Amino acid sequence: KEIGWTLEMAEKAGFPHFMLKEIYEQPRAIRDAIHGNADAIRTVAEEIARHDKIFIVAMGTSYHAGLVGRYLFQRLAKKVPIVEDASEFRYEFEDLIDEKALVIAITQSGETADTLAAMKLAKKRGAKVLAIVNVVGSMATRIADLTLYTHAGPEIGVAATKTYTTQLTVLTMLAIELARVLGTASEEYLNELEEGLKAVPDLVEAVLQHDEGLKELAEGLRDRKDFFYIGRGISVPTALEGALKLKEISYIHAEGLSAGELKHGPLALLEDGVPVVAIAPSGKTFDKMIGNIEESRARGAFIITLGDSEELRRVSDAFIEMPPVDELLSPIVYVVPLQLIAYHLAVLRGNDPDKPRNLAKSVTVE
Ligand code: G6P
Repeated sequence: KEIGWTLEMAEKAGFPHFMLKEIYEQPRAIRDAIHGNADAIRTVAEEIARHDKIFIVAMGTSYHAGLVGRYLFQRLAKKVPIVEDASEFRYEFEDLIDEKALVIAITQSGETADTLAAMKLAKKRGAKVLAIVNVVGSMATRIADLTLYTHAGPEIGVAATKTYTTQLTVLTMLAIELARVLGTASEEYLNELEEGLKAVPDLVEAVLQHDEGLKELAEGLRDRKDFFYIGRGISVPTALEGALKLKEISYIHAEGLSAGELKHGPLALLEDGVPVVAIAPSGKTFDKMIGNIEESRARGAFIITLGDSEELRRVSDAFIEMPPVDELLSPIVYVVPLQLIAYHLAVLRGNDPDKPRNLAKSVTVE
């Protein structure tokens, strides 16, 4: 007799897809990333503090984590790392790497060919290499001088979700600790941020409660052809990541950009009903974002906003209300609805979000 429960179904723990399961695992994964790195972070931050030339290399979603890392490092520790996609870094920065450089490689799988090649190059030229990796014992951990793990657990869906938010968690912890070592931010603020980070899993949990609403929103958007995701400051990488998620699994064309860039080209593409997703947490550029939203709205765009300010309601066709959170922690929380929107659009359009066409979980060839 057939047992109506396959191994795969068991592994999905009742979720229709791995991706959805992994999205829902994020509160747990973020908690594990915090606890799993509590002891190691100081030593690594002290190593980073010794370097003036810092590079962050990665591909895909991990590259977006690197971009968030740059904002965190520059805002908290007054250090501005150069973030480069590893396939470019290998060739463009070859001559600029020496023993004074520190290269931080971010890779979920620890097996991405370009990222590994960038790490090997850095090692060869005498640089210190730190890897932020999810897969224990992967090649990246063997090349690196130092490794921090993201503790997300296995990620099966090709589109990275919980590995991204845990990479952001580790980078946040690193930036806080680096600021402590360098004395670049007040201890009071750093403690506050640290407490804030510990509360992030609960905030993500709260955002996951919006899932039904996000699914309804996706239903209304399933036939749209182009999406624009805009953000400012530390939300720019969130815009890029929102667009990437949508492209990867729903096969809808999407662009992510800084809101200030809208006027320099993309505005010409806005017409009636084109979705513009504005990542608008409260922060120093909030008023500027409202301006960008209004200029998109004036061209007939369908405005979807994510934020914690009531003011957004007035300018939005759909307002995704987010819990208040420090702007520096917002990337971890704000990417979650974007993951869910991409997931629902993929499913509504008949795609398998776990196995998008033409893409692989880990790109081991160049
Ligand atoms: C592939 C995956 C992406 C991932 C990227 C980098 O393109 O489909 O989800 O972000 O590789 O992978 P890594 O394992 O180095 O983080």
